[in-house]
Amino acid sequence: MNTAHAGDDTKSGAPNMLTIRNLTRQFGAKAAVDNASFTLDRAGFIGIIGRSGAGKSTLLRMINRLTDVSSGEISFEGRPVSTLTGAAKRQWQGQCAMIFQQFNLVPRMDVASNVLHGLLNKRSTLAAMFNIWSDADIARALAILDRLGIAEQAPKRAEALSGGQQQRVAIARALMQDPKIILADEPIASLDPMNAQVVMDTLRRIHDEDGRMVIANLHTLDTARRYCDRVIGMRDGRIVFDGTPDQLTTGVARDIYGADASFSEATTSTALPADRAYAEAMLS
Ligand SMILES: Nc1ncnc2c1ncn2[C@@H]1O[C@H](COP(=O)(O)OP(=O)(O)O)[C@@H](O)[C@H]1O
Ligand SMILES: [Mg+2]
Repeated sequence: MNTAHAGDDTKSGAPNMLTIRNLTRQFGAKAAVDNASFTLDRAGFIGIIGRSGAGKSTLLRMINRLTDVSSGEISFEGRPVSTLTGAAKRQWQGQCAMIFQQFNLVPRMDVASNVLHGLLNKRSTLAAMFNIWSDADIARALAILDRLGIAEQAPKRAEALSGGQQQRVAIARALMQDPKIILADEPIASLDPMNAQVVMDTLRRIHDEDGRMVIANLHTLDTARRYCDRVIGMRDGRIVFDGTPDQLTTGVARDIYGADASFSEATTSTALPADRAYAEAMLS
């Protein structure tokens, strides 16, 4: 399973899983992502690192089409995703679930209903509004919560849970979509070290057991080194490193973070607060 990602260029014609080619996103004169290219030929566990403002969130948001591409291409299993519109775009968004630093749960709603909202891409808005879920959907939501060790939290309001538990609810909501890719934008940046470990262990386990691709923006090097098969480093919108954790030496990290001799491995980046666009996309 843990094969090296050599031979990224498919000569046989078999499609690579995820291909990013010359991807750029402009915000006015600023290129948040600047001509980025990489290919993932299997469902790995990928970390994206870089200082705040490097373009990590914009890259993830383009992959799941929350943000439009200015130029370049994204394709998945040989099919273009950067040009999808309407129902086809929503279907793609159903396949790549998103997890955020601030969890983005509905705080006053119970945990089980928050998880069931992962089905919003697949069910009618009306059914969601009135919390009309099938028995099978409810059973599946509870089974996912059980799998993540938080079944007993199901009837509680999301806001009553600890941060680590809330992030596991967000992961459960993502799993409810049965996604091919999980995109996690700084999933542990708001958690204490113990909860951070539980959440990373959970993501890794989902990857190992289900074979789902995970792409996580991470703010600490040690987390990237510990959990990822492959690390992509971004600086000023460009990809400046793409390799294994072994190749991610302190010197390389210093280059990615653009730090001087005072560079510390504890360097962190801060994500944007709650993600309004995602909430809007979920509820539209
Ligand atoms: N919606 C936006 N409008 C204008 N500029 C943006 C927007 N989103 C991101 N940017 C800018 O793009 C750059 C990259 O941002 P971002 O992708 O959030 O970086 P990171 O997640 O690595 O911190 C930053 O300079 C940021 O200010
Ligand atoms: Mg960010």
